[in-house]
Amino acid sequence: MSSEKRGMSRGLTSYGDDGFSLFLRKAFIKAMGYTDDALGRPIIGIVNTFSGYNACHRNVPDLVEAVKRGAMLQGALPIEFPTISLHESFAHPTSMYLRNLMAIDTEEMIRAQPMDAVVLIGGCDKTVPAQLMGAASANVPAIQLVTGAMLTGSHRGERVGACTDCRRFWGRYRAEEIDDQEIAEVNDQLVPTAGTCSVMGTASTMALVTEALGMMLPGGACPPAVSAARQRHAEETGAAAVRIAADRLTPDKIMTPKAFENALRVLLAIGGSTNGLVHLTAMAGRMGIEVDLEAVDRLGADTPVLVDLKPSGSYYMEDLHKAGGLVMILRELKHLLNLDCLTVSGRTLGEEIEAAPKPWPQNVVRTAKDPIYAEGGIAVLRGNLCPGGAIIKQSAANPKLMQHEGRAVVFADAADLAARIDSDDLDVTADDILVLQNIGPKGHPGMPEAGYLPIPRKLARQGVKDIVRISDGRMSGTAAGTIVLHVTPESADGGPLALVRTGDRIRLDVAGRRLDMLVDEAEIGRRRASLPPRPLRPEDDRGYRKLLMETVTQADKGVDFDFLVPPVKAKTPLAKG
Ligand code: FES
Repeated sequence: MSSEKRGMSRGLTSYGDDGFSLFLRKAFIKAMGYTDDALGRPIIGIVNTFSGYNACHRNVPDLVEAVKRGAMLQGALPIEFPTISLHESFAHPTSMYLRNLMAIDTEEMIRAQPMDAVVLIGGCDKTVPAQLMGAASANVPAIQLVTGAMLTGSHRGERVGACTDCRRFWGRYRAEEIDDQEIAEVNDQLVPTAGTCSVMGTASTMALVTEALGMMLPGGACPPAVSAARQRHAEETGAAAVRIAADRLTPDKIMTPKAFENALRVLLAIGGSTNGLVHLTAMAGRMGIEVDLEAVDRLGADTPVLVDLKPSGSYYMEDLHKAGGLVMILRELKHLLNLDCLTVSGRTLGEEIEAAPKPWPQNVVRTAKDPIYAEGGIAVLRGNLCPGGAIIKQSAANPKLMQHEGRAVVFADAADLAARIDSDDLDVTADDILVLQNIGPKGHPGMPEAGYLPIPRKLARQGVKDIVRISDGRMSGTAAGTIVLHVTPESADGGPLALVRTGDRIRLDVAGRRLDMLVDEAEIGRRRASLPPRPLRPEDDRGYRKLLMETVTQADKGVDFDFLVPPVKAKTPLAKG
């Protein structure tokens, strides 16, 4: 029998006398109105990430109530507590800058306060990985609940949703195809309800891969934020939290190399956000598991993209929910999955697939024989421009540009891009390759989603819809185009991307998995020798930003802080692909 303390006795505040510590703790919490009976029950912590700045989490108060109901019906005492909340559009310079801070907050508050299990309520892009990174490190029984996707809106009879359509309409506005009045009208329709972005952006991606990983109850990824199904799932999550507390079902029993392989397989099959790869790498890293990028690429060879959601396809998350949700995808991939992986339900992934309702005719999830795209959504590139790797979301790229050689047009950083991209004097053609430097984890701290460089206005006016773009930054999962991201090492950390100059030839060869600058080695060496040291910015030298600048890892390691990651003890994926 475990000697681990339970309920209110867990993690006592240090006064040198445990009896007094518990006496004092109970005295204070009784001011909340609890009886001794309530305080003697197992405790289910509930992470409340409601924020007035976060519309993706607007339904969190309702979800908290439903989780409490589920926990109390099973005889436990639920207690909610706040942590940081991150919304994509309300986090300067970028939400990724704060993901690790949220992970630290989550980990430490789980550890500091007494709880036998914790329900993590997140949703907006960085929140779910942050919560799972923190929970993995705290290793207290944990279960993820997402807020769910928003419903779609309607603009002049056309169905619209955040945020693929945000970018599409903004592109049309920049190309002067629509006027001020219409762009204002569409602004009212893009986010019509509470909930996360309605396409296969990072939030939808993380919801689906978390369910595949086993850290969410089956069927939890897809119900819309405003649906009764979302509320019922929350109640079930509260009840399940009591069971995992009793069974001591800690994250290390679920977040295994085989489970991460399942999650990576699903990431590829859903045409998921490229951010999903960085987040899964960071989450696995917290368990001492290294994500092997070459093996991920091999996994893609026999993993077709099956889900017809924007930006790679046509539909929205509410359609995937009506089509049956994740299990429809899992069924098609069944022969490729590790079915013996345990989930927070207490059953295996294989048992959950067997127990799910029978499929019905639908158009959102294709069969493996009739995929959206024959290979996995994400390809991993290597070459003299990215010795540590780079990625491209090939399912959302232009097939005509996947093998392309062109002249580099280089922007030194995000400010340089903003200053020149719309200039009529910009020397650029549709055959060129746009290169943006210094937007990596350290360069523009936090690795913003600026990798989706806009089409230069002079080309947009000519009707150009896509052009090869390369950077050390990230891209929103809601964006599409022939866009190479996560170039590693980043330019601000001595990567060769910093050595590219306007006029250089660059070759992108997605089929051959190569990205190279066609500059001879001697010239590259000369440029490296004359590269000035990166100027020290005063703001890099204090507070959280100093911590980030000194300890953040590169994209291939998950952009976590190095001191939060234990030594590697295993790799994933293990399948040969
Ligand atoms: Fe929150 Fe897109 S802004 S999920």
